Amino acid sequence: MKTINIIEAKKYVDQQVRIGVWLTNKRSSGKIAFLQLRDGTAYFQGVIVKSEVGEEMFHEAKELRLEESFYVTGTIHEDSRSHFGYEIEISNLEKVGESEDYPITPKEHGVDFLMDHRHLWLRSKKQFAIMKIRNEMIRATYEFFNREGFIKIDAPILTGSAPEGTTELFHTKYFDRDAYLSQSGQLYEEAGAMAFNKVFSFGPTFRAEKSKTRRHLIEFWMIEPEMAFMHQEESLEVQEKYVAFLVQGVLDNCQYELKLLDRDPQVLERYTKLPYPRISYDEAIQMLQASGQFSGLKWGVDFGSPEETYLAEHFKLPVFVLNYPKAIKPFYMKPHPTRDDVVICADLLAPEGYGEIIGGSERATDTNYLIEQIKKAGLKQADYEWYLDLRRYGSVPHSGFGLGLERAITWITGQEHIRESIPFPRLLNRIYP
Ligand code: 4AD
Ligand code: MG
Repeated sequence: MKTINIIEAKKYVDQQVRIGVWLTNKRSSGKIAFLQLRDGTAYFQGVIVKSEVGEEMFHEAKELRLEESFYVTGTIHEDSRSHFGYEIEISNLEKVGESEDYPITPKEHGVDFLMDHRHLWLRSKKQFAIMKIRNEMIRATYEFFNREGFIKIDAPILTGSAPEGTTELFHTKYFDRDAYLSQSGQLYEEAGAMAFNKVFSFGPTFRAEKSKTRRHLIEFWMIEPEMAFMHQEESLEVQEKYVAFLVQGVLDNCQYELKLLDRDPQVLERYTKLPYPRISYDEAIQMLQASGQFSGLKWGVDFGSPEETYLAEHFKLPVFVLNYPKAIKPFYMKPHPTRDDVVICADLLAPEGYGEIIGGSERATDTNYLIEQIKKAGLKQADYEWYLDLRRYGSVPHSGFGLGLERAITWITGQEHIRESIPFPRLLNRIYP
């Protein structure tokens, strides 16, 4: 007899198999018990009938406790009433590990309690579905960029530079020098693009953001492609193609998980159709002002969650907002050829209230311009000499962007809060577990 995983059940209908499982819930009458089982690959039901297994085993099944681990042996049947579609009729149970007073019970728990038990909470259905979708999006990311001819160049985590500004840096000691935890791999990817043409990084990034919102993590994962000989317009095409590919990957490979999350696949289908709309920052300001919902909103401000939500909801699609004011963007962005108040950049705003999922730009190519901007940003030129070398030796037009993985997961899975899109979230007041 074969030992299998639950996810393989459909290949074994009407056959005897053995599966290592944990108990997630149960109910029983005098004659029959229904055990809700999981093994980390899927969730399904085990049915155990007293007249088939005898008094002793039936009693053992009825007395099983939440998250006890054991092997079940039995026959797989179709079960059209469940999301999964199959169940097991149990003929034997072998206990493996005890579990006494499992803290997460089927009743409702508060978020703080669940967060304190994140190491156990990960076992529950909703968390399972989100993490499986996260995994699919990571898989699709590698497939997409490999197919498009990118190579992965890993950026360092310990750095001496601050690409996105100095206010949100995690400071640390590097022997007798100062160092920071990376807040973006971009500058290193620019060096990579000059060496390998099309590159991407995928790694953890750190921001000491004091904001406690549904969209901010202190530690998050970012995918940062960078492309040589590429202007903004072509970069936007790569961005929308990539996002549509992520959504399509989830639709193709995560139907079970979408069902567990009650996420309507038809809503996601809409996001696979390209192109996404593009509006300028100037137009966005006009739209927001005309709506009458943002009194006092003036050209020059950065958008917050309400503005981003309004703009993307207007289109009911992801929307690119182009060319923000220079004063609110980082030093490395390419200045506009005919206006000195905006830069060549774009944010991609997700619909349904999720806001910015991508930030990107064409990069400045002029050494003197960059030196000036580095000074203006309060950074030390000496720390950026290597970056300036990229302009000194064969500077070319180049563009890149960063997609926040957890922001994209939160949107695609339709969650309320970003904290459930990463296995162990780091939040303003949380570093446990
Ligand atoms: O817009 P950001 O700050 O852009 C950069 O870091 C560029 N260097 C990227 C590049 O051009 N290579 O961040 C990029 C994305 C945001 O659009 C957002 O999705 C995500 O990273 N992000 C966060 N996600 C979770 N928590 C936070 N605190 C985040 N800050 C940014
Ligand atoms: Mg941004």
